[in-house]
Amino acid sequence: MNIEFTRHRRLRNSDSMRSILRETHLRAEDFIYPIFAVEGENKKNEVPSMPGVFHLSLDLLNAEIEEIVSLGIKSIILFGVPEEKDDVGTQAYHDNGIVQRATRQVKEAFPELVVVADTCLCQYTDHGHCGIVENGKILNDPTLDLLARTAVSQAKAGADIIAPSNMMDGFVAAIRYGLDEAGFEHIPIMSYAVKYASAFYGPFRDAAHSTPQFGDRKTYQMDPANRDEALREAQSDIEEGADFLIVKPALAYLDIIRDVKNNFNAPVVAYNVSGEYSMIKAAAQNGWVDEKAMVMEMLIGMKRAGVDLVITYFAKDVARWLKEDQ
Ligand code: PBG
Ligand code: ZN
Repeated sequence: MNIEFTRHRRLRNSDSMRSILRETHLRAEDFIYPIFAVEGENKKNEVPSMPGVFHLSLDLLNAEIEEIVSLGIKSIILFGVPEEKDDVGTQAYHDNGIVQRATRQVKEAFPELVVVADTCLCQYTDHGHCGIVENGKILNDPTLDLLARTAVSQAKAGADIIAPSNMMDGFVAAIRYGLDEAGFEHIPIMSYAVKYASAFYGPFRDAAHSTPQFGDRKTYQMDPANRDEALREAQSDIEEGADFLIVKPALAYLDIIRDVKNNFNAPVVAYNVSGEYSMIKAAAQNGWVDEKAMVMEMLIGMKRAGVDLVITYFAKDVARWLKEDQ
């Protein structure tokens, strides 16, 4: 047969050949592991919709961190599940709030670990919204002051990075100002810059007890149909002083990750959210999919799309698999 074509398969013909030509890699350092801290003692309660994810009381926290660190993971993101909620989320910015106490404890025992504090009000408000509510509306500007106070109390507790996730306009500017005023100009902001109103957050809301008690989050989180708007959101956060940009969720938004990577010169973080975790765990528990292969492929896809870091509930599993494969 006298035809002309290209032999791509030459570059795939052995393990070693594939290995030297691999363009993207996963490392334990790429992952930020989410932790849910709860009040009380001796609590290690599995979140029903998130197998392998636990609510941990502070007395059990250090043992968990020990394991995380031994796997080579360098960073965690802390979420608090408080016992008390009220209409203004007081426990979010209380110096003895659950996240503040967890942060102090973890930084004392593991000073090298990078502790990211999620900064929002929804776990702490009785209505479950990420801002102050009046007459059924989520108020923007009055919420900013509470977010800045939350960030400052987290920084005081020793948080290395502040990660505001609430999607009010101006939250990066307000938090940057608050941190600088309080002497924390050296603490970076990892902004949830591009956060969509997503069904993929369902299991997290079980985990964090943060389901809105009325309505939804569509007046502050983005419409999943919008791509140009993501660039506007990222742009304003960069102008306001964001040091990292988060895109959330990840799996259905890989195009957005690439857009953000190409348009801004800042580290890009993907949040591989709870629904993305639970659907793989559930399928794996049924024996329907190869969990390890699927998770590795999903995460390499995110890196290929352009992320520098991934917040993922799979961090420990992946770090373990990477060690096994060495
Ligand atoms: C809210 C918040 C959400 C998540 C973390 N913080 C989303 C939401 O409830 O709107 C989702 C994380 C996940 O699904 O893993 N500030
Ligand atoms: Zn919130």
